[in-house]
Amino acid sequence: MQFATRLDAIETSAIRELFKLLGKPGIISFAGGFPDPALFDAEGIAQSSAAVLANNPGPVLQYGATEGFQPLREAISQFMAGKGSTVKPEGLIVTTGSQQALDLIGKTMISPGDKVIVEAPTFLATIQCFRLYGAHIIGAPIDADGVDVDQLEALIEEHQPKLVYLIPTFGNPSGATLSLARRKRILEIAARTKTLIVEDDPYGELYFDTPPPPSLLALSDGVPGSRDWLAHCGSFSKILSPGLRVGWLIAPPELLARATMCKQFSDAHTSNLTQAICAHYLTLNRLNPTLAVVRKTYAERARVMAESLRRELGDAIEFNQPKGGMFFWAQLTGAQGKPSNAAEFAKRAIDQLVAFVPGAPFYAHDPDLATLRLSFATADVAKIEKGVARLARAL
Ligand SMILES: Cc1ncc(COP(=O)(O)O)c(C=O)c1O
Repeated sequence: MQFATRLDAIETSAIRELFKLLGKPGIISFAGGFPDPALFDAEGIAQSSAAVLANNPGPVLQYGATEGFQPLREAISQFMAGKGSTVKPEGLIVTTGSQQALDLIGKTMISPGDKVIVEAPTFLATIQCFRLYGAHIIGAPIDADGVDVDQLEALIEEHQPKLVYLIPTFGNPSGATLSLARRKRILEIAARTKTLIVEDDPYGELYFDTPPPPSLLALSDGVPGSRDWLAHCGSFSKILSPGLRVGWLIAPPELLARATMCKQFSDAHTSNLTQAICAHYLTLNRLNPTLAVVRKTYAERARVMAESLRRELGDAIEFNQPKGGMFFWAQLTGAQGKPSNAAEFAKRAIDQLVAFVPGAPFYAHDPDLATLRLSFATADVAKIEKGVARLARAL
């Protein structure tokens, strides 16, 4: 069969290939990007499902509006207000996961050959999705405080990109959090250079001790002109359940209208049933207690992972301690003949029945082959200690 040429630039994800090996019996996996299913509030979701089907099942089982189920748009508007962002229900659309919001941005904004700046490293599915639309992707370097704003500004001046895609809070895979000062500067740069910034924020609620700085969206009210150049993607996947496939897109009206039109041709609308479940769930006052447990559990796992990595791997590895989210981003040092190539190390680790993801696929270009991502979200503390000890055996 002759497939569309747009697929020519896309490779099957190296991560997917690795996942095939994860079925090995007894393997401890730090490779996934999934939240821990044991922490899903299944009882609350069951209660909401029963309620929406009992009360008035017609509308939730019927086709619905492309923009989203109105009670949920209102509930998301309130949820965002709680996080310091002003957005009217009409200022957002509900999407089928935030992944669809990213796809709609790609579809709406990117023509073949357009330049797009992303963090190096960034979320692999975004790289793949934007490439599908023909984007020429340029990576901007990051450190523990997120993207390097001086270099980002220089890249924007040089390339005049169609958009800049950032995960400012507890990035995937970087675990990094953009500092408040950098957030403000990025908004100023966006307004001055008239560059669209796409803020992807699925992890912001998963902080360990203290909340992260306000989102770019929340800060945009204080930076004149920046809101006109800002899109924000949110999601219930990491705070409630990814299986519901409910996310949202907040964007300037013209962009939102075009994204809505494209969504119409794509899936018509996000499942009304799961949207109604989310809307009802938010009225139950169960989200905060559930999130409190998730934050505490992930914080403990991250603490144990950091301690185990230091104890077991010593100078073989360097990493920044994340303050939230689900990931450690680490770099092999190659010290004293120890490994420096994460893909080779990953193979040896699988032989020792422990898995992680090598970092290279998270770079749009010029990958750092020594990097790797470790998720602490799904393994309990005992497994984390055991898994990291196995990593040490693979050195
Ligand atoms: C940075 C980032 N953006 C978006 C998504 C997509 O999430 P969803 O479509 O489930 O909302 C993920 C999922 O892992 C992610 O890590």
